[in-house]
Amino acid sequence: MSQQIYLNHGATSLRKPEPVMAAVTTYLQQNQELAAKRSFMGDASERNRYLAREAVAEFFNYPDASHVIFTANVTTSLNMILQGCLRPGDHVLTTSVEHNAVSRPLAMLQKQGVEVTYLPCGVDGSLDPQLVADSIRPNTRLLVMTHASNVLGTILPIKECFAIAKAHGVLTVLDTAQTAGFLPIDMLDLQADVVAFTGHKGLLALAGIGGFILNDEAAAVMRPWLTGGTGSFSELADMPTVLPDRFEPGTPNELGICSLRASLAWLEAQDYLALAQQERELTQQFLAGIKELPLRILGRQNIQESVPVVSVVPQQMSCDELALQLFEDYGIITRNGLHCAPWAHETAGTLATGTVRFSFGWDTTSWEIQQAVQALTEILTKE
Ligand SMILES: Cc1ncc(COP(=O)(O)O)c(C=O)c1O
Repeated sequence: MSQQIYLNHGATSLRKPEPVMAAVTTYLQQNQELAAKRSFMGDASERNRYLAREAVAEFFNYPDASHVIFTANVTTSLNMILQGCLRPGDHVLTTSVEHNAVSRPLAMLQKQGVEVTYLPCGVDGSLDPQLVADSIRPNTRLLVMTHASNVLGTILPIKECFAIAKAHGVLTVLDTAQTAGFLPIDMLDLQADVVAFTGHKGLLALAGIGGFILNDEAAAVMRPWLTGGTGSFSELADMPTVLPDRFEPGTPNELGICSLRASLAWLEAQDYLALAQQERELTQQFLAGIKELPLRILGRQNIQESVPVVSVVPQQMSCDELALQLFEDYGIITRNGLHCAPWAHETAGTLATGTVRFSFGWDTTSWEIQQAVQALTEILTKE
C-alpha cells in the first residue's frame, strides 16, 4: 500500500487548508509572546471572537453577529437548542433520517413528556413537505431537520418545509453538519429560526468548534441549558439576558474559533461553490464507475439533489469485510456501519447490514476516485 486515500469527509475534513494551519500556529505563537511579555491576552481573544462571529453571521447571512453562539460542535448546539426550547406537553417534528445528534436529545425529551413525530422519508431519503403540514398539531412548537442525510446524501427540501412550519408559528431549526461549506445557506431565505453548525467537516476548521445562530423569535423562547461563568454580569444568580453571553458559559475554544475564522475566509476566497461543483463532478465520476458492480447504491444518485456522500451495500460480503479490504489492500479510508444515524438506515432498509460510506471533500482528486472505483471493481468481481 503506497499511500492512503481519505474518503471519509462526511465524518470530518481530515486535512485543513494551509492558511488555516498557519492561522492556528500564529495564534499560538502570539499567545506565547503575550505571555512572555506578561501582556493582557483578553483583548486579543475578544477580537478573535468578535471577528469570527462577524464571519459566521456573514457566511449564513444573519444581520446581527451577537446572535452567533459558539459551542464545541453541532451536537452540543442541538442539545442546547432542543432542551432550551421544548417543554413537557410540547410537540416536535423531525425526520426519519436524522443523526443521533437530533434523535438522542429528542428521545431524552420524550421521556420528559415531549411528543415527537418522525416524518417518514422515502427509501432514498427524499421527503414530501406536505407531511409537515399534515403533522402539525395545536401544541407543535418546533421542526428540526438535517439539511442533508449523512448516510444517503439526499438534500432535504428545507425551504418548503420551513415555510409551512413558519406559516403555522412553529420554530424551525436546521442541522447544517453535512451542508455547511457545500451548499449556500441563507438563514433568512430558508426561514430558519436557528441554524446549527459544526466546524470540523465542510467548514474546514478544527474539531471542537461549532455553534448556532438564533434569531429574536428563538431567543425569546429558548432558555439556557448550559449555565456558568460568562465574565459578565457576575452579580446575577442566573445567566445574563444579553447575547451571546446568555448561551456561552465557560472558557471558549479560542484556537477553534481562530481556525474557523481562517477557514471561512479561505472558503470565501476560494469560491467554495466552485469547489462544491468540483465535488459534484467527482461524485458523478464515482457513481458512473460503480453502477455495474454487484452492490446496492443508496440515495438519489443524482448529484444535484445530494451532498458528496455515497453509501453502498455489497451483495456478496459484509460491509465490515468490504471496508476492511479497501483499507488493508488499497489504503482507502471509508466509514462503515450505522454512521450514528440508525433511523436513516432503517429508512433505507440497511439497519441490519449498515453500509460502506464514501464521502468526498475539498481535497479529493479524480485520481483518488479512479483508485476507489478500481479497488471496488477488483474486490467485488474477483472469481
Ligand atoms: C447530519 C449530522 N448531524 C450532526 C452530526 C454531529 O456532528 P458533531 O459530531 O460535529 O457534533 C453529524 C456528524 O456526522 C452529522 O452528519
